[in-house]
Amino acid sequence: MAEATIDLRHQPKDRAYAQLHAYVLIVLAGIDDDIAGMATISALTHHAFGFLWTGFYRVVGPDLLRVGPYQGTLGCLDITFGRGVCGTAAAERRTIVVPDVERFPGHIACDARAKSEIVVPVFDKTGTLIAVFDVDSEKRGTFDQQDADGLERMLRWFAGKGRG
Ligand code: SME
Repeated sequence: MAEATIDLRHQPKDRAYAQLHAYVLIVLAGIDDDIAGMATISALTHHAFGFLWTGFYRVVGPDLLRVGPYQGTLGCLDITFGRGVCGTAAAERRTIVVPDVERFPGHIACDARAKSEIVVPVFDKTGTLIAVFDVDSEKRGTFDQQDADGLERMLRWFAGKGRG
């Protein structure tokens, strides 16, 4: 591979996510391994957009998320369902966009520089929640519906689409 990272910071979001998704599918072609998928998606997404923290919290118990593959500064280890943005997204099985983390009651600040955040649930092919994908930005208002759509589409890789 000629380049290990792509820079999508100056593209319109719809094009950026389409390119990121295409890149993920190429890099992961022939791979059927959730951890390899999580590590690869974290690295590509993080560097493509220059986010502050990008990674997965895996479901490891009935009501427990534990940090998985990620890029960025040290992440909190365990998050109970219902706590913080990640735990809320897991409990409600839906994407949560937080334009200003100071206005989200219970937000867990792993890195004090985080200002806005998006958390997307990750499902396997049976529809079981296996993880959440958490992205943090140093700027307020970074994420909107286009980010939610782009990330949700890419994360369908874990449900088996375009995989193996
Ligand atoms: N902010 C998240 C916690 C995870 S860290 O940001 C990496 C939350 O409120 O769930």
